[in-house]
Amino acid sequence: MNIHVKRGWYRGRPAFRPRLGREGFFAVLAYCPRCHKDFLETKELQGMKEKLEHIRQEALAALAETKAAADVETLRVKYLGKKGELTALLKQMGKLSPEERPVIGQVANEVREALSSALEARKQSIADALLNQRLAAEAVDVTIPGTRPDLGHKHPMSIALDELKEIFIGMGFQIAEGPEVELADYNFTKLNTLENHPAREWTDTFYIEEDSSLLLRTQTSPMQVRTMERQKPPIRVIAPGRVYRKDEVDATHSPMFHQVEGLVVDKGITMADLKGTLNALVEALYGKGSKTRFRPHHFPFTEPSCEVDVQCHACGGEGCRICKGEGWIELLGAGMVHPKVLQGVGIDTDIYSGFAFGIGVERMAMRRFNITDLRLIFENDLRFLSQF
Ligand code: DAH
Repeated sequence: MNIHVKRGWYRGRPAFRPRLGREGFFAVLAYCPRCHKDFLETKELQGMKEKLEHIRQEALAALAETKAAADVETLRVKYLGKKGELTALLKQMGKLSPEERPVIGQVANEVREALSSALEARKQSIADALLNQRLAAEAVDVTIPGTRPDLGHKHPMSIALDELKEIFIGMGFQIAEGPEVELADYNFTKLNTLENHPAREWTDTFYIEEDSSLLLRTQTSPMQVRTMERQKPPIRVIAPGRVYRKDEVDATHSPMFHQVEGLVVDKGITMADLKGTLNALVEALYGKGSKTRFRPHHFPFTEPSCEVDVQCHACGGEGCRICKGEGWIELLGAGMVHPKVLQGVGIDTDIYSGFAFGIGVERMAMRRFNITDLRLIFENDLRFLSQF
């Protein structure tokens, strides 16, 4: 502030003769920034300076109390606005002499600037505090142990199926899929199954049409016919899928279960190829050196037909609880594709021959995972499923 207090004798104009202070010779002078001269303050000037100072003090005190940006803005309007206190005060400058006006103008500017920057600073500190509050509230403690989400995993049947697929893909087989709602023609007739065969009974099979022409397939074997109709030899396919039979549910039966059908057709295919392929399968499933046994059997669509057993891996053929004292465990049905089946799809049996097999996947999975009750596989009890 360019307000000077000077000691000494007054030498200025008589009109501005200084008032004497109590202790002696000093004068309160104002410095005029326009004419660059000192002059004595009048009462009016002093009064306005005091009011300005009062405004500054009051505004700063009020500002210190503010909590929100809106309060700061209210104060800005109250003190610095067009209808604010500072403006109102400056309107009274008319009372002052021309020398005094610039003096008060300067003080007023100082007050305005001081208040402006104090208001700005307050606004900023309120915003900072707000931000800090939010940051604190939204802070994430990355050191808190997380909750591990329960991840699903493969169903034991999927594990068994994938394992079988893997083995056959390794031997050069392709994978085929076919309908579960099947024509009786494919499920039975084209597979050389006679009209009076017991498997055709309504008590055994789920029929969809009254005339017994449409049914839920009882086996994956119709895929043999569908595959041969679709493609010419050489053929090497497996066809995994669901099959349906009217069986009561118990520890070893279910009206729905899974099979993997296998079919190989080419020139010069013999029983030796069948044995070699199935021995390779058994070794892949039960380890090198596992023994197999081929027992004569009957299926309408193979000739000769057999059932294949694997020597019990638990007792080595001695007979135990797992093989029910047999020493052998039944694995699958197989045989050389019946000439009537091949001829039915127009394959020349003088040139081509083939073998086929059908594996029950549930039985395989039960043995693989030591599951003693088939129902567990389909009940989907998580306590059971999470064990695999
Ligand atoms: N389809 C037969 C069944 O469900 C299993 C079977 C046996 C399939 C011999 C074949 C086979 O391909 O050659 O009992």
